Amino acid sequence: MQHYKELIAGQVSSLIKEISVEEVISLLEYPAKPEMGDISLPCFSLSKILRQAPGQIAERLLEQIKDDAIARMEALSGYLNFFINKEQFATTIIHEIINEADRYGSRNIGQGRTVVIDYSSPNIAKPFHVGHLRSTVIGNALYQIYSFLGYNCVGVNHLGDWGTQFGKLIVAYQRWGSAEQIEQDAIDEMFRLYVKFHQEVETYPELEDEARAWFVKMEQGDQEALHLWTWFIEISMREFEKIYNLLGVSFDSYAGESFYNDKMEPVIQQLKDQNLLEEDQGAWLVRLDSFDMAPALMLKKDGSSLYHTRDVTAAIYRQETYHFDKAIYVTDYSQNLHFQQWFKVIELMGYPWAKDLVHVPFGRVSLEGSGFSTRKGNVIKLEDLLQQAILKTKEIIEAKNPQLDNKDEIAQQVGVGAVIFNDLSGNRIKDIVFSWEEVLSFEGETGPYVQYTHARACSVLRKATELGYTAPADGELAIELDPTLLNNSVEFSTLKMLSVFPERIEQALVKLEPSMISRYLVDLAQAFNRFYHDSPILIEDVSLRTARLALVQCVQITLQNGLRLIGLQSPEKI
Ligand code: ARG
Repeated sequence: MQHYKELIAGQVSSLIKEISVEEVISLLEYPAKPEMGDISLPCFSLSKILRQAPGQIAERLLEQIKDDAIARMEALSGYLNFFINKEQFATTIIHEIINEADRYGSRNIGQGRTVVIDYSSPNIAKPFHVGHLRSTVIGNALYQIYSFLGYNCVGVNHLGDWGTQFGKLIVAYQRWGSAEQIEQDAIDEMFRLYVKFHQEVETYPELEDEARAWFVKMEQGDQEALHLWTWFIEISMREFEKIYNLLGVSFDSYAGESFYNDKMEPVIQQLKDQNLLEEDQGAWLVRLDSFDMAPALMLKKDGSSLYHTRDVTAAIYRQETYHFDKAIYVTDYSQNLHFQQWFKVIELMGYPWAKDLVHVPFGRVSLEGSGFSTRKGNVIKLEDLLQQAILKTKEIIEAKNPQLDNKDEIAQQVGVGAVIFNDLSGNRIKDIVFSWEEVLSFEGETGPYVQYTHARACSVLRKATELGYTAPADGELAIELDPTLLNNSVEFSTLKMLSVFPERIEQALVKLEPSMISRYLVDLAQAFNRFYHDSPILIEDVSLRTARLALVQCVQITLQNGLRLIGLQSPEKI
């Protein structure tokens, strides 16, 4: 479809010199109703430029535009509606998808430019919660989308592995903990100790000083302190890795907050030299009053660094190391101010790349009514949630398809896919309420629905092979393939849906909105299911059968590519 937009825009722009090809492209629409054409040009904004009524402009263009790719045009109420040449369109799109296969939808618009994506970033010794899951899922999808469009991506897990909380944990561990317990219950136990510390400190405030002393020791490189700290990291990472394995997510760098310990001093010095730091009751901060923001605290009274200090230092390091064209940070919107503040600090330091820093905020996930809602001191374990999803999926699969081989593997792909898809179901900024019924529905707008539709396409193709019909992708058959036979309205709308995939990927990238792909996949799945119910596929008529099988194959390819972009597997059987 993009191709048709470019073609129309090219003609319009050469007929109306005042408007560029890009401007026309941005005006073009896909009408909601097929009788309004396949592409439509609203002439209202042109009317202002040309001082002519929209209807007149439409009429004039209708007479002047000519191209084989366009079957006919209609000027209606200020719109010029284009009806594309269906035969030519069907042939082009079917061949394009079959030839490009797992690259269908990809482009090289990134041309070696680098994007650093900071996502997931859980905190050591604390639970990996649903907010971290959403960051992981959105960040990973952005990573896949950028890569597919030719960008060089660096995925960074900015682990929360430094800070005063480790002093508290050491104190709590030495008083009330045991190595066995930590080895056994891992983060649960470390978090229990951390919570206990906060309870006890109410009665014994001196614990606070003790904790601070331990953290100072850590900062000074004390062996014992660092030994414990390393161990806490190991235990936590083992648990995080289980989650990443289930999700199928990996990172290029695990440089967490502690990585910047020896890199902050020069940054503080630079801030001082640039007269950006101001002392305030022993602490050091950057005033942001003239930007209507609270100051960014860079050093505490005791000289220790903060979240801000590490982010500023990390950004400078990432620019020097990766020479990024864009650096993206995926967290929930409660951190909006934090990012605005330190982006401003980078700008004030005079770095021209401050404009390339992008915060991608997302809404909160609430678990009300899911059986997982948070009670005091009882945080939901994400791994439990994923395991539950797998278990529930297995029950559903067992009821639907008892003969299926490797049920466990499929249940994992679908169960985890359901949870991932749920996080991408609406615009990222929207808060979401977790509901098992919605997440796991095989109907509705869910991951399993899309995966199941993909498996259905695979099953048609499999049956065709079993019956001895050659697959459309086979070289020999390509000659016999006649896509122009795909001319009923359901086939045509499925083809149109297939053809907008590359555009949707680009929009998802521009808006940093992976949900555009998940919604596209639901639309495509619905179009395919209408086709599947309407049009018999494994019929006697060889030519029509081959053409329809080719369409099924194109849907299979596109669903698979789309699912991959948002981090879902596409099993062939469910
Ligand atoms: N560890 C932080 C948290 O759990 C998220 C870090 C996000 N990345 C960053 N560079 N600040 O809230």
